Amino acid sequence: MKETVVSGIRPTGKLHLGNYFGAVTNFVKMQYDYNCYFFIADLHSLTTHPTPDDLHGYVRHVLVEYLACGINPEESTIYIQSDVPEVAELYLYLNMNAYLGELERSTSFKDKIRSQPDNVNAGLLTYPSLMAADILLHRATKVPVGKDQEQHLEMTRTFGNRFNRLYKTDFFPEPYAFNYAQNLVKVPGLDGKGKMSKSEGDSNCIYLSDSPEIIRKKVSRAVSDSGPTSENQTKPEAIQNLFDLMKIVSSADTISHFDSLYNKMEIRYGDLKKQLAEDMIIFNTPIRERIEELSKDTSYLRQVARHGALKARESASETIREVRKLIGFKSF
Ligand code: ADP
Ligand code: TRP
Repeated sequence: MKETVVSGIRPTGKLHLGNYFGAVTNFVKMQYDYNCYFFIADLHSLTTHPTPDDLHGYVRHVLVEYLACGINPEESTIYIQSDVPEVAELYLYLNMNAYLGELERSTSFKDKIRSQPDNVNAGLLTYPSLMAADILLHRATKVPVGKDQEQHLEMTRTFGNRFNRLYKTDFFPEPYAFNYAQNLVKVPGLDGKGKMSKSEGDSNCIYLSDSPEIIRKKVSRAVSDSGPTSENQTKPEAIQNLFDLMKIVSSADTISHFDSLYNKMEIRYGDLKKQLAEDMIIFNTPIRERIEELSKDTSYLRQVARHGALKARESASETIREVRKLIGFKSF
């Protein structure tokens, strides 16, 4: 029996290189070796109160981009979270065993209190139990996500184990974060600090759908500094970030060329950025072209979403049937 894999991305905009290297590239590779469920986490995105039109548009983007990146709907199950209502039922059960203190301690909740202080809703607080429900719904053991999601995986294990203990069962296995790279990946952004993230603004991100002109413009404006002041010095964060971005799209020769120029204090950041932009363009052109093609094919998108929902509900309803039995809901 193949191990089960679950992962999802919230539809809050277009996918960027961080999403790709942190998550989606693993989806594509895993689909041939595992029993995979990849979904679009539209219920999670309701915490930010999107308009119906924005919500639908973003769901469509992510579906198109999943397919454009090479997730094959014949190999893996691609579905939209809200098409599988069983997840809401499992979320309710898990919430009965999720404690205020532990939910309040989650880093993502603390971040949200800071970033949206006027909208600290119960959905934000219980975000980790909905995420746990997504994963436990298919009894997955591997979850391809970026480094920022590690704590959510830990909470998922806590909730699953707690359910198992309460109902004296071993029904839910323990899921772990997964990446084919040695360590979980963190792709830096263009603003000289921290990770690439939509919430840091469009100029911080290279989207998979960005045109060559936009990529050149964004990379040329990436934060750098006035250059090294001594030979072989440690690179400050903004410069290390540019080299880290090169590591994901450029050849080893290119990187060592610029590295030795840096060490000799002969580097010109303009040249490095030009090379980085061209290598990003080579990487993303085939994906961007597929995005453009697939965006036009609504009937294919509809077919993929319907097929995925059916397959996901099959697995979800089996889990819910068993969970109801374990909890003690019985028919007379
Ligand atoms: P964003 O920060 O742009 O809102 P999300 O939080 O929606 O992105 O992330 C979706 C998926 O992509 C998650 O699995 C997350 O771990 C991964 N991811 C996002 N940004 C990065 C990054 N800069 N490096 C690595 N993985 C990332
Ligand atoms: N929390 C994830 C993120 O912000 C999205 C997500 C929701 C998810 N449910 C999931 C990821 C289940 C993996 C498995 O990126």
